[in-house]
Amino acid sequence: MEPPLCILVTGGAGYIGSHTVLQLLLDGYKAVVVDNLDNSSEVAINRVQELAGDRALNLSFHKMDIRDKPALEKLFASTKFDAVIHFAGLKAVGESVEKPLMYYNNNIIGTLTLLQVMTAYGCKKLVFSSSATVYGSPKEVPCTEEFPLSAVNPYGRTKLMIEEICRDIYSSDPDWKILLLRFFNPIGAHPSGKIGEDPHGIPNNLMPFLQQVAVGRQPKLQVYGTDYSTKDGTGVRDYIHVVDLADGHAAALRKFSDPKIGCEVYNLGTGKGTSVLELVSAFEKASGKKIPMEKTGRRRGDAEIIYASTAKAERELNWKAKYGLEEMCRDQWNWASKNPKGYQNEDDVVN
Ligand code: NAD
Ligand code: UFG
Repeated sequence: MEPPLCILVTGGAGYIGSHTVLQLLLDGYKAVVVDNLDNSSEVAINRVQELAGDRALNLSFHKMDIRDKPALEKLFASTKFDAVIHFAGLKAVGESVEKPLMYYNNNIIGTLTLLQVMTAYGCKKLVFSSSATVYGSPKEVPCTEEFPLSAVNPYGRTKLMIEEICRDIYSSDPDWKILLLRFFNPIGAHPSGKIGEDPHGIPNNLMPFLQQVAVGRQPKLQVYGTDYSTKDGTGVRDYIHVVDLADGHAAALRKFSDPKIGCEVYNLGTGKGTSVLELVSAFEKASGKKIPMEKTGRRRGDAEIIYASTAKAERELNWKAKYGLEEMCRDQWNWASKNPKGYQNEDDVVN
């Protein structure tokens, strides 16, 4: 029997990373997580181990910053990685506007360090977490992978730059296989309610904010803009269940066995647009909680309407999102109600 393939997952203790690591273990891979725990908790790793049962033995965790080149080199020297899934990075748009150097340092230097060490150790398969943010405010929807790219804030610029860096690396050395996955808006949690999103500080994104209103940690939701040219005047996004996103990563790893693959881009979304008010209403239904709302002005830099064309991922990755809004909200509420303080206090978990 072949030994299991070994995947390095940077940022694997985070929201999307923890769900993906679980999926990899269940699919029979070995996963090595490096994370500096800047926006996550080691409890997430323990919970993934719990959920993985016997496969937990195939998971190891290293508290490490990917900018620490000697530490990363030591890890590559002791372990042969078949591929790397790179989630590690900072992701708060507002914070990136206030602290651009911090974002360029973490996201760009972190990625360059990783790519240098991968090159030195001959590991040339990479899956990178890009974002729908690279489409800026698209002129039409759905967004196909060929749309023009733009960035309106430092966070978005780091994603664009890293995509370009990857394209340059591939054109300099066609032995590389690089999959740039543009995530739309991940929400929801593992159906067990054991792992989910636990952002540090006040959340910027709609769903984690809604969740905190529902558990009484925030008084009300501010709806940013009600005068857009959309079905009900509020912004439209493509929300995707985080478990579907994790499954998309498993599909990406399978794609590496295609000899024709070079550096490719794929949207990971559902292809469906949902407005802020529609999401609030689906979440109210799932949670049985009324969400107090205040309609306020538009948030600077927000796109009006954005959702994915899913055709390329369906055709070439043989992957399609399975879950709908109802399941996303159900699983989000299951996680929120079982872990009202996130991973903060293990004792608070309601079994
Ligand atoms: P997250 O913050 O939960 O996970 C990122 C993880 O990376 C965290 O655990 C953090 O501690 C770790 N990290 C950050 N800098 C690091 C460093 N220098 N060294 C080691 N570890 C480091 O975020 P997430 O939502 O799971 O996002 C994962 C990736 O997907 C990010 O690159 C993000 O930009 C991208 N993405 C996220 C979304 C979204 O809406 N959640 C959308 C598009 C793209
Ligand atoms: N919104 C509110 N109130 C809030 C938060 C958000 O009304 O408190 C609205 C926004 O105006 C927008 C929608 O809810 O119309 C979704 O906003 P999010 O902040 O949840 O998501 P965005 O699509 O604006 O951006 C997020 C990440 C980006 C990423 C993008 C696509 O912040 O970094 O998803 O993946 F690029």
